[in-house]
Amino acid sequence: MRICVIGAGFVGLATGVTFGKHGHEVVVSDIDPVRIKSVNSGALPFFEPPLEKELKTLVKKGRLKATRDSVGAVRSSKVTFVCVQTPSLPSGRIDTRPLKAACKSVAKALKSSDDYKVIVVKSTVVPSTTDSFVQPIIERDSGRSAGKDFGLCMNPEFLQEGSALRDSMMPSRIVIGSIDRRSGDLVETLYKGFKSPIFRTNLRSAEMIKYASNTFLATKISYSNEIANMCVRFGIDSALVLEVVGKDPRIGSLFLRPGVGFGGSCLPKDVRALKDRARLEGYNSRLLSTLLAINDEQPREAIRLLESAIGSLGNKRIAVLGLAFKGGVDDVRETRAVPLITHLLAKHARVVAYDPMAIPNFIRLIPTIEYASSAAECLKGADGCIVQADWLQFKKIGKKEISSMRQRVIVDGRRFLDPVVVKKAGARYFGIGYGLS
Ligand code: UDX
Repeated sequence: MRICVIGAGFVGLATGVTFGKHGHEVVVSDIDPVRIKSVNSGALPFFEPPLEKELKTLVKKGRLKATRDSVGAVRSSKVTFVCVQTPSLPSGRIDTRPLKAACKSVAKALKSSDDYKVIVVKSTVVPSTTDSFVQPIIERDSGRSAGKDFGLCMNPEFLQEGSALRDSMMPSRIVIGSIDRRSGDLVETLYKGFKSPIFRTNLRSAEMIKYASNTFLATKISYSNEIANMCVRFGIDSALVLEVVGKDPRIGSLFLRPGVGFGGSCLPKDVRALKDRARLEGYNSRLLSTLLAINDEQPREAIRLLESAIGSLGNKRIAVLGLAFKGGVDDVRETRAVPLITHLLAKHARVVAYDPMAIPNFIRLIPTIEYASSAAECLKGADGCIVQADWLQFKKIGKKEISSMRQRVIVDGRRFLDPVVVKKAGARYFGIGYGLS
């Protein structure tokens, strides 16, 4: 089948590559000419090596191409996946302008084509967006009616950055919300051969499943941070506590890792958006407000630990390792490195930072600090270090790097280093939720 994907971001390209690998012909459209050029040369506009490898193969074989002509791309396809971003507005509400622009292109294409097509919203949108925003725009601008002239579905994406291809090829579940049976059936045929359970729902339930999933993950993280903050004050190691808690199958062991909080392009945005959507219905979600408040405070916990070790931070040289919102990616959207470094600067610390991939993106957010070209260089002469992102290579920091520090203090902001190894290398180890000395 010929498939159109609107939006060459993480979700769009993972979707395109996945269906391309399943034998479909894919055309990806985007408004950014740089992205188009990059995709057509087989290169991703972001760091995700396994996805890039497959993209390259598909482009070479002529099974995936990118274009700026979204109308033409929709017109020539049977199914269109709308994968544009829905970033946060200051109110927490999602910004629907990119979605509106995509709907307008879809409408233009439908107006000038006679065959039945299915439009699938994959962008994360709050409940009722597909039926009350997407559908009216397409119907009004195209003069066609949903359910009769074209199909409409909502098919949320659950992939994580860093494992985008694997998550997209082998999702834990596939949710197909549809306006009617016909649209949903057509989209379901695309998922033939996937080994994942498929859930057929209406449009709003599909939208809500995505938010319920992401807000639950955020809740687990804020819960872990709350427990960790208590453990550190009780002289207990939260890693052991949470590991054992996670053995209860009703709880599960994943996403119980405390740290400086959750960042990225999804979790913070989705919590805010659902809270705002509920407020519009007159419902005040205290849970969502509280988990955001815990998340906002969490970088200060790392700073508190650092201060407990070296005292006032004024004029101290502080190394921050990891600037991406998590290890293994170059994405700095809502990275906790921003509040962390902002608090450090407010305390008049001199910040030197390093990240294996994210410096070019991060430098645009905070250009005024010093950037190192390696973890070793970053630690040299430092009065303390906070590890903000869980890059595996930071586990290799040893005696040599630590002995070059002025004060050998490591604050593990992601609780992924082994305290024994760090101590053996000669540093004092502090970690979120690590109450042992
Ligand atoms: C997330 C969801 O996991 C994914 O299902 C959805 O489709 C998109 O949003 P992603 O943005 O890639 O994926 O990040 P994720 O791996 O979930 O991590 C989000 C943040 O939470 C990161 O800052 C990470 O460091 C933090 N985190 C994660 C914790 O602090 N503790 C944990 O136990 C897990």
